[in-house]
Amino acid sequence: MRRKRETLKDGTTVLIRDMHYEDLDKLMKFYRSLPLDDRVYLKVDVTKRKVVEQRMKLIEQGTVFRIIALQDNEIVGDGMFEISKEEWRKHQGEIRVIVARPYQRKGLGMLIFRELHSLALKKDIDRIVVKMMRPQKGAINICKKLGFHKETVIPNYVWDQADKPQDLIIMTCKPKNLWRELEHFYSDSDWRRCR
Ligand SMILES: CC(C)(COP(=O)(O)OP(=O)(O)OC[C@H]1O[C@@H](n2cnc3c(N)ncnc32)[C@H](O)[C@@H]1OP(=O)(O)O)[C@@H](O)C(=O)NCCC(=O)NCCS
Repeated sequence: MRRKRETLKDGTTVLIRDMHYEDLDKLMKFYRSLPLDDRVYLKVDVTKRKVVEQRMKLIEQGTVFRIIALQDNEIVGDGMFEISKEEWRKHQGEIRVIVARPYQRKGLGMLIFRELHSLALKKDIDRIVVKMMRPQKGAINICKKLGFHKETVIPNYVWDQADKPQDLIIMTCKPKNLWRELEHFYSDSDWRRCR
């Protein structure tokens, strides 16, 4: 079971651990506190308890792994790693990360990515995939920084939560290459102390 304390760039300490079904109430509180700008481009409407509950049940199937970051027992970040159930994509794992607005730009997204990445290495995944809509600038930038390549852009392929068509951007990376990028990033970074 993953459970570790990490210090963010501003000195805040967070607990990063596996998510359990019992975290559902906390998770709903976290999702419902997200500003519309941060949840309108997500795959599903995370304010709906039934939707979130169903997705949490996927953890039991063993192809979905979820971690959370907590501060004062409240969720401030959420990460998901999902191994594809499709036969022809079974070598791929998709990563999704959400960080509460007051905790953004403090390195928490990187820490969650790092945890999910080490999971991908353990699971022998050949390709990590991140899918986002064009307005998700933070997500695109963090992926670029980590060494993901912009693989494909499909114009107007998905609809956001406000039913507005959006371009889908797919970025991918080999876990081993991402590891190199992470090492490079950490050694050049002034928050190496946060590791
Ligand atoms: C994407 C997200 C998870 C990033 O989390 P975060 O904790 O802010 O990320 P970090 O602080 O670790 O950022 C690492 C680097 O990514 C880049 N980055 C992150 N957010 C950025 C933004 N809004 N604009 C530009 N660059 C950004 C920067 O290079 C940053 O390094 P720096 O702060 O030293 O310049 C967060 O913005 C978020 O939750 N967004 C809403 C939900 C979402 O779009 N999720 C992605 C679904 S896959």
